[in-house]
Amino acid sequence: MLSLRIALVAILLLVPMLSTSAQDVPQLGEAPLQDVIDAMTTKEKALLLVGMGFSMNIPGVPPMSPEDAAIPEKVPGAAGRTHAIDRLGIPSLTLSDGPAGVRIEPIRESDSTQTYHATAFPVATLLASSWDTALAHSVGTVFGREVREYGIDILLAPGMNLHRNPLGGRNFEYYSEDPLVSGSMAAAFVNGVESEGVGTSIKHFAVNNQEFNRMQLNTHVSERALRELYLKGFEIAVKEAQPWTVMSAYNLINGEYASESEALLTTILRDEWGFEGFIMTDWFGGSDPVAQIAAGNDVLMPGNPGQTEALVTAVENGTLSEETLDASVERVLQVVLASPTFRKVAYSDAPDLEAHAALARQAATEGMVLLKNEDEALPLPASQTIALFGNASYDLVVGGTGSGDVNEAYAVSLDAGLKEAGYTIHAALEGDYSRYIEEAKANRPPPPMPFMLPPPIAEMPVDEARIQQAVQNADVALITLGRNSGEFADRVVEADFDLTEVEQALIQKVSGAFHAVGKDVVVVMNVGGVTEVASWRDAPDAILLAWQPGQEGGNAIADVLSGQVNPSGKLTSSFPVAYTDVPSAENFPGKELPSDDAPSIFGVPSEVVYDEGIYVGYRYYNTFGVEPAYPFGYGLSYTDFDYGDVTLSASMLDEEMTATLTVTNTGEVEGREVVQVYVSAPAGTLDKPKSELRAFAKTDLLEPGSSQTLAFTLTAADLASYDAARSAWVAAAGTYTVKIGASSRDIRQQASFELAEEQVVETAHPVLVPEMSIKERTAPAAQED
Ligand code: BGC
Repeated sequence: MLSLRIALVAILLLVPMLSTSAQDVPQLGEAPLQDVIDAMTTKEKALLLVGMGFSMNIPGVPPMSPEDAAIPEKVPGAAGRTHAIDRLGIPSLTLSDGPAGVRIEPIRESDSTQTYHATAFPVATLLASSWDTALAHSVGTVFGREVREYGIDILLAPGMNLHRNPLGGRNFEYYSEDPLVSGSMAAAFVNGVESEGVGTSIKHFAVNNQEFNRMQLNTHVSERALRELYLKGFEIAVKEAQPWTVMSAYNLINGEYASESEALLTTILRDEWGFEGFIMTDWFGGSDPVAQIAAGNDVLMPGNPGQTEALVTAVENGTLSEETLDASVERVLQVVLASPTFRKVAYSDAPDLEAHAALARQAATEGMVLLKNEDEALPLPASQTIALFGNASYDLVVGGTGSGDVNEAYAVSLDAGLKEAGYTIHAALEGDYSRYIEEAKANRPPPPMPFMLPPPIAEMPVDEARIQQAVQNADVALITLGRNSGEFADRVVEADFDLTEVEQALIQKVSGAFHAVGKDVVVVMNVGGVTEVASWRDAPDAILLAWQPGQEGGNAIADVLSGQVNPSGKLTSSFPVAYTDVPSAENFPGKELPSDDAPSIFGVPSEVVYDEGIYVGYRYYNTFGVEPAYPFGYGLSYTDFDYGDVTLSASMLDEEMTATLTVTNTGEVEGREVVQVYVSAPAGTLDKPKSELRAFAKTDLLEPGSSQTLAFTLTAADLASYDAARSAWVAAAGTYTVKIGASSRDIRQQASFELAEEQVVETAHPVLVPEMSIKERTAPAAQED
């Protein structure tokens, strides 16, 4: 009886609890995830998958909903936000660009007491030219701290499309013409950023290698080139770093928008590679929101109310299943659960910009490439007087434009960096340039669109008298060539890839005048991508490729010019002799197609055919015997390195094998060497490049006389090519040669091993098949060695 009474009391006590929890709405992080999803209305699910929009008054750009517009931005200047669903405890995530630094508004109307600058790091191409994945990880970590300290959840970086053609307008945001370099750098960077508890978005998946009509460009590309080149870097990054998110590309691939391609986003990215995070569109990318969600593209950015409505209607009329919607919702919520906003991580709005600037400076020095150094013209002796020519010497291009731009607190120009390093700048020249640049900037028309590049300031012509005066008063001449580019437009050959007449004349006249009295001339290339060098490189004594080096650029260039830092960068993309040598020159940027569409900022239907196939960059130059100006992997040092014999752990490949060799610094100063491992495959059924990069490493800082032993592991997967006929990665049987070198054309040691039998390393799906037959380039029959 007693126990019955206790039981009754217990039940009575429980009733109110049960009824409260039944009425209670499940809260994210407290209730099981499935309960949260089950509690969501279709509209709420759709809202979660469609961003809050962009408050921009541009014709053709759909506006935000008035409710969303009324919600103040958590981080002004961030690129996007997801919707909060307060009822279920789901907060809004904040997403911010970009690859060279956290891109936010530095000044807030609401707050005049503080600024919100971010560190402008060197551009991705420079970072990759360091070939130092540990450095990419360190830079990523510091990025991650800035992301977190500014209250942001996801960084919209790294960009990792390939340098298919030097004119790609966003190449500076990307790493290389080679997918192993791109994938390894991206993985290290992502692991660094995400070690700070914030997310990344590797972008733009995939084949977004140009800007021309980027939102409506159909790229015709073979399955093999896709798999081996354009997808490979993403595959490496996904497998090695499992980023929180992936950003799908604007373009179409073989007839299908990347953001609407189930083959790309689900079959390849998720099923084959095991990607676990969520996929977002690029801003305003694709055309059909329902097709995007159906393909597995979980979030539509920046989002607009029309897309939310379209998703709700599609679920109601059965064209989109609730399960598909739920799968996306779950993927998004998993990331929300990990986000700093959900975890209520406190943020300071005050990252340690000083410490981060120091890393930006060091990173910049690590990726600069010494292209020429005749008679040890560099390093420059201390306290010299420098005749500093070239607009960019006084107005350094620290990074590119568009979403790859950063609002840094300051930028160190080259003249300032050189002065800081103890050099004297020829005063009359400095005066001429300063006045000229100030005036040109005051009269410069604004850019055609807010994110776009303003027209470049024409190089200042320098008259003979001024050059002669500089010859008298200075010890050395230094000429800086500057280039900039960014989103919305590709570069052009004339006066961009090629030098302008004024630049050519400047190099020739200054070199002539300084050489006449035995004084040296140095050219600094302050560029975001591959630029013509062959026509003028004989004139100066030294050439330093400084890229776009970030806000500490002037100091970093001075560090290398003065020998404070020994340059150790090497090229991650080939420099051709002429643009016409580029294998895709005939097929870049493609052509516009006839269409009835009214012109809009979203471009017009266009197409491009990648008929160079797998022969991009060094794979082409080295296989077809085309001499580049500077080959892939090339870069000089102020010291020399000796490569000892290579030892292979076996003469037959079983599971894996190791190639080991010792590198010794045989010069006078300390330095680091980038060691590259190329492999030549036996002639099989598939056409093969002469050799391909399969591994690389950078030595520590080696004192003169000291050595380091490096070991590289190779497996059958590293030897495989993609056989589209079999939808498989296949390593052919036969003799492979491991070629270890200082560049792709400077092989120092080699050794061979056998693969006894053909190995099918991995099978894939026959998807993304071109809708037209592409007449691809094939290797010449006899490849010289
Ligand atoms: C760019 C992306 C960027 C996004 C958000 C787009 O125009 O292509 O790289 O992340 O804008 O700013």
